[in-house]
Amino acid sequence: MRFLHSIRWFIALGIAGLMPPALVQAADVPYVPTPQVVVDAMLKIANVGPNDYLIDLGSGDGRIVITAAKKIGTRGFGVDLDDNLVRIAQRNAEKEGVADRAAFFTRNLFDTDLGKASVISMYLFNSVNLRLRPSLFKLKPGTRLVSHDFDMAKWAPDDKLSVDVPGKSYGPPSSEIFMWVVPADASGQWRWQLPSGDAKMEYDASFEQTFQMVSGTIRSGGRAAPVRDARMRGEIIVFYVATERDGRATRQEFSGRLSGDVIEGHTVIDGVKAPWRATRVSRGRMIIDN
Ligand SMILES: C[S@@+](CC[C@H](N)C(=O)[O-])C[C@H]1O[C@@H](n2cnc3c(N)ncnc32)[C@H](O)[C@@H]1O
Repeated sequence: MRFLHSIRWFIALGIAGLMPPALVQAADVPYVPTPQVVVDAMLKIANVGPNDYLIDLGSGDGRIVITAAKKIGTRGFGVDLDDNLVRIAQRNAEKEGVADRAAFFTRNLFDTDLGKASVISMYLFNSVNLRLRPSLFKLKPGTRLVSHDFDMAKWAPDDKLSVDVPGKSYGPPSSEIFMWVVPADASGQWRWQLPSGDAKMEYDASFEQTFQMVSGTIRSGGRAAPVRDARMRGEIIVFYVATERDGRATRQEFSGRLSGDVIEGHTVIDGVKAPWRATRVSRGRMIIDN
């Protein structure tokens, strides 16, 4: 009886918004708004366009999603644990005439389905970014992630930018912006053929991948050479191989789009471009947890 009474008491307090603080989900990061000049730079570095779907994790007063909706026509939503901020964001979206494209929900960012996003923005702590990192890696390759001031440790950004923010409310008068593109997994054994005179040369490659960085070896005609400057940017792979042609050193460049177990693109040597199609014969395991 006493137990039932306690439950009713908790429900009543919850409804009245008076739940004891220990039972309310604590914010992982306090509310600090991103200065408008930084919002604009975040949207620019992530190349946000009208066909993108933007999710802001911990959306505060909604300024990132609202700016994208207003200036670019982007659709999206923000989530925040703070119900009051969510209401402010909804009112701001209405005021700016973008409530049809910019929605806000009271929700824990860790319980948010990110599957619809083509861009995710964050102004969280490193520790929170790192907790999110495994889920971010499962997003569709090519999804862009843009973070204000906090990076993702060993997952180096694909792009970064420093923006002057005179009068910033804390720290130095500037902001760092980091941008990552979720990479496709190119790890494993690959094979392709390229014409060589009237014949065809067989190539075997083994690629390892840590985050977006690729390393590996290509074997052909009894020779082996390391791949150089190899990396993924979303589904796009680029690398080159130092090689020899007519007794002189040159480089052969490769670039292509990876889809499933196929890469299609082209290779260039001495300015001559040829189609390149590689198929994966066995999969590896991309390292994303160091
Ligand atoms: C630094 S503010 C950033 C606000 C906004 N994104 C911006 O850049 O102006 C971080 C926000 O994350 C919210 N937050 C913290 N932990 C959260 C969580 N676990 N789930 C959802 N929101 C959270 C806070 O309430 C706060 O509004």
